[in-house]
Amino acid sequence: MSTDFTTEEIKQKYDESASKYALMERVQEFIGVRRLRRRLLRRVSGTVLEVACGTGANFPYYPDGCEITAVDVSPEMMDIAKQRAEKLGLDIDFQLMDAETLAFPDEHFDTVVSTLTVCTYPDPIAALCEMERVCREGGRVLLLEHGRSDNRLVGRFQDVREQAHAKQLGCHWNREPLELVEQAGLCPIATRRTFLGIFHEIEAK
Ligand SMILES: C[S@@+](CC[C@H](N)C(=O)[O-])C[C@H]1O[C@@H](n2cnc3c(N)ncnc32)[C@H](O)[C@@H]1O
Repeated sequence: MSTDFTTEEIKQKYDESASKYALMERVQEFIGVRRLRRRLLRRVSGTVLEVACGTGANFPYYPDGCEITAVDVSPEMMDIAKQRAEKLGLDIDFQLMDAETLAFPDEHFDTVVSTLTVCTYPDPIAALCEMERVCREGGRVLLLEHGRSDNRLVGRFQDVREQAHAKQLGCHWNREPLELVEQAGLCPIATRRTFLGIFHEIEAK
């Protein structure tokens, strides 16, 4: 079975597993992802686009005063995100949209955020090019991504298990986020790798 899923197939997978995503968030919390989200989102300002917002795991960490638009392809994931925004008292503009064809004008946002998604986009370079396009000159694209570990053994394990892992939710865990960012024409200005080199915080312009 090919794990090169289309966006429609990814949408279906996330719709089906949205109710179980809270469990995945707990695993992420356990390995320290919450702290990484908080660190990244401190750098947000102005008008913000969050691409592939999922269930809204980033929402608690946005600084006050941001004007947030959030997009995702999965209505079920977005429903959970809407509930979370309501609980947090956040007024977010939600739109169902494919990250690879964003329906916004060029240079529309001050900050573009995407977390734990470059692994899943069917065409990650297309999605990153879109983020670059809708971010204003002088703005920031902020990414928190996971990829192939720089630990030889862990990286090898990810390679061997790539297909089995990707079969579940289309997550290609041995992609190289930094290389993809550069291939998309973004210019990383601050990067940090943690957790066996698996997680990348990337601030790009
Ligand atoms: C692993 S979840 C990450 C969610 C969230 N960003 C987070 O940090 O928890 C991946 C999300 O990407 C969304 N997604 C995948 N491909 C997409 C695309 N082409 N356009 C928009 N959303 C997409 C999925 O629906 C899902 O909500």
